[in-house]
Amino acid sequence: MLEPIDAALRDEVARFDPTLPVEEASTPPSSWYVSGAIWELERRAVLGRAWQPVASLHELVEPGAYASGCSVGEPWVVLRDDEGELRAFANACRHKGREVVRGQGRAESLVCGYHAWSYDLRGRLRSAPRMAGIRGFDREALSLPSLPVRAWGPWAWIATDPQAPALAPRVAELDAMLARTGWDRLRLHSRVSWTLACNWKVYVDNYLDGGYHVPHMHPSLDAQIDMASYRIELFEEFSVQTAAPVAAADPRTAVDPTQRIGGGAIYAWLYPNFMINRYGPCMDTNLVIPLGPDRCRVDYEFWFEEGEGEAARAFVEQSIEQAALTQREDIEICESVQRGLGSRHYDHGRYAPRVEHGEHHFHRRLAQDLRRAVGLTGADQ
Ligand code: FES
Ligand SMILES: [Fe+2]
Repeated sequence: MLEPIDAALRDEVARFDPTLPVEEASTPPSSWYVSGAIWELERRAVLGRAWQPVASLHELVEPGAYASGCSVGEPWVVLRDDEGELRAFANACRHKGREVVRGQGRAESLVCGYHAWSYDLRGRLRSAPRMAGIRGFDREALSLPSLPVRAWGPWAWIATDPQAPALAPRVAELDAMLARTGWDRLRLHSRVSWTLACNWKVYVDNYLDGGYHVPHMHPSLDAQIDMASYRIELFEEFSVQTAAPVAAADPRTAVDPTQRIGGGAIYAWLYPNFMINRYGPCMDTNLVIPLGPDRCRVDYEFWFEEGEGEAARAFVEQSIEQAALTQREDIEICESVQRGLGSRHYDHGRYAPRVEHGEHHFHRRLAQDLRRAVGLTGADQ
C-alpha cells in the first residue's frame, strides 16, 4: 500500500540540494538517517526498485536448485528450472501467503509447508489439496508472480519490482573492468553477516569517503595500500575507488601487501547498496541490507582464486581475518556516527571535495530517486 506523500516529508527530501557542486554542498540532513518516514520512502523508491545479488550461480546449476530469502520486506525464491532457465518468483503462497520455500535446496516442485499447495518450477500451481466444494477457483490465475532475474558475474540478481530498469546497461563498464581482473577464476569460500546499529547509508557513506578515514581508523589496512595512489572514478550507477599496494613492508601489519593487494585494489560500489572489493587473488563483497531506520545487516562473501596446499590455506585465513578486522573497525565507526546523527545538536555536515566526491555522488543519485518519489521537480539533476 502506498502512503500519500505529506508536505513535511517532501520538505525533508528537499533539504538536500543535488544541484550544488561538492565544494558548496552540504550533506543530507540527519533526518534522512533516523526518520521512519524517509525509511519508508526509501523502501519503495530506492531499495524496492534495486537489483540485488541473491545467490551464487554455482549453487543454482542443477535443475530444481533453489535459494530463497527476503529483500526489504519482499520474500523471493530464485531457481533453475527443468529446462535450464533461471527463474525468480515472489515467495508468498497464493493460499495464505506463507513463504512457499525457505532456505535453499533442490526440489522437483515447490511445496508450501503450511497446507501443501504445490507449484512447478515455472511457478504454476499444480495441486491444492482439500479444495473440494470451492467455487470460482481459477487455478491458472494462481501462479507465483514472476520477478525479473538476471545472471551477472558469479551471481543471480533479482529485482522485486517488475518495472525495475534493466541491469546490464547499469553494470556494463563495471563488468568490463572486473573482467580484466579475471574474476571468473574466483571461487566462493565463505559467507558471514554482521548486524549494525546504524542506518544503511551510514555504512555506504563510510565506504565512499575516498579513503579519508583509512589512516585514522584502519592502521593495518593503511599499512597495505598506498594512500597517495588512491583514485575515485564516478559513473552513472556506480563508482570505483582504486589503490596500489605499498612499496615497502610496514610493521603495522603482518600481511604481505604484494601478495594480498597484488597489482592494486578496486573498491567498486553499485548503487544503492552493494560493494565489490577486488584485490590480488581475493574478492570480498558487502551487501548492505537495510533493516530499519537505525539498523542494517552487512552480508559478506569471500572469494579467492583457487590455490593448493598449506600456504594457500594460511593466506586465505589471514586475508579473511584482515577483512574482519577492517569490518570491526568500520562497525565501531558506523554505530558511533549513528549516535551522533541522533543528536539534537547535529543536523548536517560538509564534504572534503577532493576525497568525498564519491559520497556526494551517492547522495545526488539517492536524491534523484527520493525527489521523483515525492513529486519534486528537478529530480533528474
Ligand atoms: S499458505 Fe501455502 S498452502 Fe496454505
Ligand atoms: Fe573503513
